[in-house]
Order: sequence, then structure tokens, then C-alpha cells
Amino acid sequence: MIEVEGVARSFGDVQAVRDASFTVNAGSVTALIGPNGSGKTTLMLMLATLLRPDAGTIRIAGHDPVADPRAVRTAMGWMPDVLGSWGTISVRRTLEITGRLYERTPVQARERAQQLIDLVGLVELAEQPTRVLSRGQKQRLSLARALVHEPSVLLLDEPASGLDPAARVELRTLVRRLASEGVAILVSSHVLAELDEMADSAVYLERGVTASDERIEASRAQSRDWRIRAVDPAALAAALKKLRIAASPPDHLGTAVSVAGEVEAAQLLAKLVGAGVAISAFGPAVGDFEHTFLDLSRTTTEGGPR
Ligand SMILES: Nc1ncnc2c1ncn2[C@@H]1O[C@H](COP(=O)(O)OP(=O)(O)OP(=O)(O)O)[C@@H](O)[C@H]1O
Ligand SMILES: [Mg+2]
Repeated sequence: MIEVEGVARSFGDVQAVRDASFTVNAGSVTALIGPNGSGKTTLMLMLATLLRPDAGTIRIAGHDPVADPRAVRTAMGWMPDVLGSWGTISVRRTLEITGRLYERTPVQARERAQQLIDLVGLVELAEQPTRVLSRGQKQRLSLARALVHEPSVLLLDEPASGLDPAARVELRTLVRRLASEGVAILVSSHVLAELDEMADSAVYLERGVTASDERIEASRAQSRDWRIRAVDPAALAAALKKLRIAASPPDHLGTAVSVAGEVEAAQLLAKLVGAGVAISAFGPAVGDFEHTFLDLSRTTTEGGPR
């Protein structure tokens, strides 16, 4: 549903996106991961028909955003990184007007606005002008607005920023539900732990270039830190020493050890339990996406292969 091949875009001397290639299938959620300024928003703007690529091809639901922006906008919902809203108009009217802009009848637009107000939890604020909304409430409105025309492709640029923990869980549940209904979703976020739970796969963007599958595979295979917490930290330290396993000095989160993979981690846990250490927590120190992201950033700064 989203196909990007060799896409580039510069602003004067700044090469915001240099070479981006990836696909997102119907019914799947793909994370767009990259540090500040790596080109995520620029890429999303090109997908959303709002910025012309200098090179490469983009297809959204089979349509070209440059040649046929209207067809793309019909198929696609876009939640920008910052919501531009009409400050004096109510939440309800904003959604109704958006529905009318997507050529729904007044009755359809009204019904859809009510559904979305319920869906994103803005019932109590429905008649308020949008300028009174808090940041998190604006994000909710922005998400509702992206969904007005029931798009089959959804672009979410930092959707969780400003949301409280409960709203983040709701967002995740909603994103997964939309995917299960067949929507193709591309979502950017800096909160990688959250993406771990939301996304099926990830596209890593570094200085405007998407990392190749081989590079991602190599980063994923790197050994990583696992965090262990024991009821008695001294007993854990003694057991690790006996097993000749180097460990970081314990802090309030526990002790970190470097482990080559799931199998090695499972063996270590069995040994520690076998040695009578009471383990209360045992798991990767960072999530999958974060581990890969950090390793890719490290190899890029070191001038490693792309
Ligand atoms: N309109 C513009 N004119 C000039 N430079 C721009 C413009 N838009 C983006 N850039 C530059 O392009 C690069 C990529 O910016 P972009 O906003 O796409 O990054 P991002 O990955 O979304 O970052 P963040 O994580 O902070 O949201 C940056 O160096 C930015 O300064
Ligand atoms: Mg951005």
C-alpha cells in the first residue's frame, strides 16, 4: 500500500532525504525510526502529497502523489507532527468540516464526527473551540481528523507525543485494530519501546538514507545487554563472578550483562536459578527497535558500511 523507491529531497544545500526505499503492506504497522533531523517528517510530507520528491518514486495505494494527489488524499489519512487547527471552531465542527471537505454529505459528516469524538475520548470537549485544547487533546483531535474518511493508508508523525500513559495505550490499541481491519500504517516516534509493542517491522532512517536489510540484520545479531535483578544483589554478584560473567555494577534497575542472544540468555537464567539466586526480573535492557537503532547510529558515526 505504500511503496517508496530511491526517494530524495533537498532544501537548498540540505539533503533532508537522500535515498529512501521501503514498502508497507495492507494490514501492517511499520515504524519509521531515526534521530532528530534524519528526514522522517520530510519523507512523510512527500507521501502525503505536500512536498515533491527530487528523485525516486512513491506509490500510495497504487497512486503517484505527484501525478495524482487527489487519489492519494482519498486513500490516505495523515496525522502531522503539529496540528494546524482553526482555533475558534469547535472540535465537533472541525471534524464535520473535514468530513465535508472529503465530500461526505452533511448527515454522514455529522455521524462520523460523533463516532470519532467517542473513539478518541473528546466527548467533554466536543463543543469547545480547538484553541483551548491541551497538547495531548490536540493530538487526539489530529488523529480523529486523519480518520474522518476511513483511509486505507495512515501516516502518523509522532502520534504519541504529548499523550499521557493511558492515552498511549489507547492509541496503541486503536492502531493495532485499524491494522487488523486492513489499514497500512506508517508511524514515527522517538519512544521506541512503544513502537516495539505497536509495529510489526521498522524502517531505519539515518541522515536521509534507509538502512539496508543486511545492515539491520547485522545490528540485530550484535550481543546486547540484559538486565537482571535479584532479591539479594550480593548473591547475584557472587554467582555471576563464579560463572565468570562480566557484569556492570548494580544500580536501582539491577545489573547488566552482555548476552549473545535468546538462547544464551535462557541458559544464563537457568544457571543462576540453579545456583539458588532469587531472580526477580530478567530481560533485555532495551527493546528490539532501540537496540538496532543504537547499533546503527554507532556504526554510522564510526563510518561503517551502509
Ligand atoms: N523546509 C525546509 N527548509 C530547509 N531545511 C529543511 C526544511 N525542512 C526540513 N529541513 C531540514 O531537513 C532535515 C530533516 O528534517 P525533518 O524534519 O525531516 O527531520 P525529522 O527526522 O522529522 O526530525 P525530528 O525527529 O526532529 O522530527 C533537517 O536537517 C532539517 O533542518
Ligand atoms: Mg519530524
